[in-house]
Amino acid sequence: MTYNRYDNIEANGKGHLTIGGCDAVALARRYGTPLYVVDEMAVRNACRAHRREFESRYPRVRILYASKALMTKAIAMIVAEEGLSLDVCSGGELYTALSAGCPPDRIYFHGNSKTLSEIDFALSAGICRFVVDNMDELRLIDLLANAKGLVADVILRLTPGIEAHTHEYIKTGQIDSKFGIAIPNGDALRAVKYAKELRNVKLTGLHCHVGSQIFETEPFLHAIEVMMDFAREACDATGFIMEELDIGGGLGVRYTGGDDPLSVADLAEAIAPALLKAAEERCLPLPTLLMEPGRAIVGEAGTTLYTVNAVKHIEGVRTYVTVDGGMADNPRVALYQAEYDAVLANKADRPPTCEVSIAGNCCESGDMLAWDIALPDVEVGDILAIFCTGAYNYSMASNYNRHLRPAMALVKDGWSDLIVERETYEDLVRKDVVPDRLKSSHRSAAVSAESAMLVYPRASGANASE
Ligand code: LLP
Repeated sequence: MTYNRYDNIEANGKGHLTIGGCDAVALARRYGTPLYVVDEMAVRNACRAHRREFESRYPRVRILYASKALMTKAIAMIVAEEGLSLDVCSGGELYTALSAGCPPDRIYFHGNSKTLSEIDFALSAGICRFVVDNMDELRLIDLLANAKGLVADVILRLTPGIEAHTHEYIKTGQIDSKFGIAIPNGDALRAVKYAKELRNVKLTGLHCHVGSQIFETEPFLHAIEVMMDFAREACDATGFIMEELDIGGGLGVRYTGGDDPLSVADLAEAIAPALLKAAEERCLPLPTLLMEPGRAIVGEAGTTLYTVNAVKHIEGVRTYVTVDGGMADNPRVALYQAEYDAVLANKADRPPTCEVSIAGNCCESGDMLAWDIALPDVEVGDILAIFCTGAYNYSMASNYNRHLRPAMALVKDGWSDLIVERETYEDLVRKDVVPDRLKSSHRSAAVSAESAMLVYPRASGANASE
């Protein structure tokens, strides 16, 4: 029986939820909870759909996986194996990509606040492109590339002045944004001119990202128009030829039954002809099309399993189901009022009988994982599965309240492998440093000196004048 709306999620003969052919209850038993479960074929299929739908409609395409959505060595290997390039936005993501063996010439380095050492690291690694956010960064890349006797290929991140209808914190294309260089006020043209003057950078293209969790083609189409107008203007003013146009990520996914995202095919069907036409109308050579999906690659592939620790019924108010994870492993509800669907993995074949809210284990009232969702009778020890947690859950996880970050299992064809180990208490204190003066021998010496002063005030120099 196919469970719910997710193709990859089913219930087996025991009535247990299965993911990628694995019994979710057995996964919880084997690896413990909370547990991130990633369906490998769902990730691969999303990579393949992006390549297939765009490559069949447009002559030159590069799909970059926005690794900020979920980055581990195994995930980087899978997307690289599927022929995707990688968008990294920190030295840490770059390091992970390189340690996973991703070819540097398929790595694009994003980020609005790159440090000198990150730029130096990326130059030494021989990455493909820097996606440059501001003039200071451009100057720094030129300087460091010069010191290394290199020419760095760069793409400028521009803000086209478009507002996508999404949560305030995840929309990025408007001018009043910390990201990118604004087109409407002339800053972008100044940046192109400046880049062309620099000897150790080569400007190859332009980038924009209008927002995330977008359900319409309109913001993407609008962005293409604005970017192509600008490419024409920049060409006229400076002779710059845009070899590549990166239109960012942002394709929405289905968090709950109420979400109706575009398919990748719908998106490609809108974007590819629009870009072909826009280039022709403006007499511009066809740029290579770059897309940077993150959530659409890994979002629906992820499920988080929790154990129910308590069921608290407040008569006439609501029932709180408390689980062994929360905002430390999924901060999206607290941050963006995100909504999720869930089932009881050990009762996946039973119909819902009650409405409950899922509370996390952090000391914060706002630490909720879902409000008012329908589940079968919930009991302590049940395994709760929250769907669509592949993107921006592990990557935004924290140790708040010193909770341990969960393990992650990769499932495929009934087989499971651990791809991130569960943290241990030793991990938690590994980076803690105790200054010598707080260590017990020093401390007891300090304390006894202090008490000596109290007991024998006359013996101390400080009190000698009394
Ligand atoms: N490219 C750029 C330049 C980006 O800034 C992002 C996301 C992406 C691509 C990928 O966007 P996606 O396809 O995943 O929507 N933490 C938030 C999302 C922040 C998105 C940041 N940038 C969340 O949990 O919804």
